Amino acid sequence: MQGQINDCIAKDKDKVVDQIELEAGKKAVMCRCWNSGTFLYCDGKHMERNKLTGDHMGSVVSVKKFHSATTRSTRASEREMRDR
Ligand code: FES
Repeated sequence: MQGQINDCIAKDKDKVVDQIELEAGKKAVMCRCWNSGTFLYCDGKHMERNKLTGDHMGSVVSVKKFHSATTRSTRASEREMRDR
C-alpha cells in the first residue's frame, strides 16, 4: 500500500509490537527504518536507505544499566534543572 514504510515485516499482524529483555550491562541496537534483515535489530541497512532518500534515520540503542533505571534524557533534564 502506498505510504507505508513497512513493506515486508510481520504484515500478517494488525500491529507489530516487540518486547525484549536486556541483561544488566547489555545493550540492544534496534531498527526503526523497517529495512533490517534482522528486524527487530538493526543491521545497518538504514545507511543504504539514507543514501537513496537523503534521510538521516538511525537505530535506537537501548541500554540496561546495572543499578539505575534513570534514562539519559531524564538525567539531562535533572542536570538542566539543577544548573538553572
Ligand atoms: S537497519 Fe533499520 S535502523 Fe538500522
